[in-house]
Amino acid sequence: MHLSNAEPSTATDAEASTETELDKVIALGREIVLHTGTHPLSKQYVGNDLACTSCHLEAGTDPQAASFIGVATAYPAWSPREQRVITLEDRVLNCFMRSMNGTRPPNGSKVSVAMTAYIASLSQGQAMKMNHEKPLGPKHVPTLDIDMTTGDLTRGRELYANECAYCHGDAGEGSDDGPPVWGAKSYNHGAGLSRVPKLASWLKVAMPLGDPYLTDQQALDIATYVNSKPRPEFKLQDHLPPADKRGEYNAEPPAAD
Ligand code: HEC
Ligand code: HEC
Repeated sequence: MHLSNAEPSTATDAEASTETELDKVIALGREIVLHTGTHPLSKQYVGNDLACTSCHLEAGTDPQAASFIGVATAYPAWSPREQRVITLEDRVLNCFMRSMNGTRPPNGSKVSVAMTAYIASLSQGQAMKMNHEKPLGPKHVPTLDIDMTTGDLTRGRELYANECAYCHGDAGEGSDDGPPVWGAKSYNHGAGLSRVPKLASWLKVAMPLGDPYLTDQQALDIATYVNSKPRPEFKLQDHLPPADKRGEYNAEPPAAD
C-alpha cells in the first residue's frame, strides 16, 4: 500500500489482503487530514471551513506547501511558543486550536493517533534529528528573502482581486473552488498563516493552486492585504478541551498569546 502520495490507494487484492491494523489507522489518518471538517471523528474539534489539506496541500504530500514529508524526523522538538519540548502528536493537536479555530482533541484519542500515524508514515526510512530550536520539519516553507515591512496594501488589494478572488471570493468568504481566507470561517489570529511573513512565504510556494507564480513582492503585498482583514481572535482558554480530557497540556494555560 502506497501512502506517499495523495492518489487513492491502488493496492491490488493481494496487497489489500495483507493490510495490517496499522495500515488501516494510517489510511484513516489520511482521510481525516483530507476531510477534517466533515469526518465524524474530527468535525467536533473544527471551528472553521478548513481542512488540514487546505494548507498542507495534497494531504501534506506536496513537497513544498507545508509538506508533511520528513516532519516526524524533527520531533521531539523545542517549541518557543509553548516553552516546552513537544511531541509530533502535540504539534498535530495544537493545529486544531489555531489553524482550524477549534478545540484540541485529547491526547491518545483515536483521531489523534490516526492523524499522527499518517503523518509519521510520510517520514518512513528517514533519519531522525533532534530539534533544539523550533518545531519544524526538514521541508518547511523557507522564509522569503525580502524586507517584510515593504508589503503594500493597495497593490495587495488589486492583486487579490485579479489572482485570488475568483476562487476565494471578493470578500474572502470562499467558494466551491477555494476555502475562506478571512472572516469567521477562516484561520484565527493564533495560526501560523496569520503572520504576514509566514503567509507570504507559503503563498509563494502554494498559490494560485496548481500554478504558484507570484513574485516575492507580490506574495508579500497579497499577504499584507489578506492578513489586514478580520478573522477570529485567539484566546487559548477558549480552545482547550475540559481539564479532564486534556491530559498534560504542554504549556501553562493561559499562555501569553
Ligand atoms: C491555515 C493553514 C493551516 C491549516 C488549516 C493547518 N495547518 Fe498545520 N501548519 C501550517 C503552517 C503554515 C505550518 C508551518 C509549516 C512550515 O512553515 O513549513 C504548519 C505546521 C504544522 C505541523 C508541523 C510541521 C513541521 O514542519 O514540523 C504539523 C504536524 C501540522 N501543521 C499539522 C496540521 C494538522 C494535523 C492540521 C489539521 C488538523 C493542520 N496542520 C492544519 C498551516 C496550517
Ligand atoms: C484555482 C483556484 C484558486 C486560486 C486562483 C487561488 N487559490 Fe488559494 N486555495 C485554493 C484551494 C482549493 C485551496 C485549498 C487546497 C485544497 O483543499 O487542496 C486554497 C488554499 C488557500 C489558503 C489556505 C487555506 C485558507 O483558506 O486560508 C490560502 C491562504 C489561499 N489559498 C490564498 C490564496 C491567495 C492569496 C490566492 C491568490 C494569489 C489564491 N489562494 C489563489 C484555490 C485557489
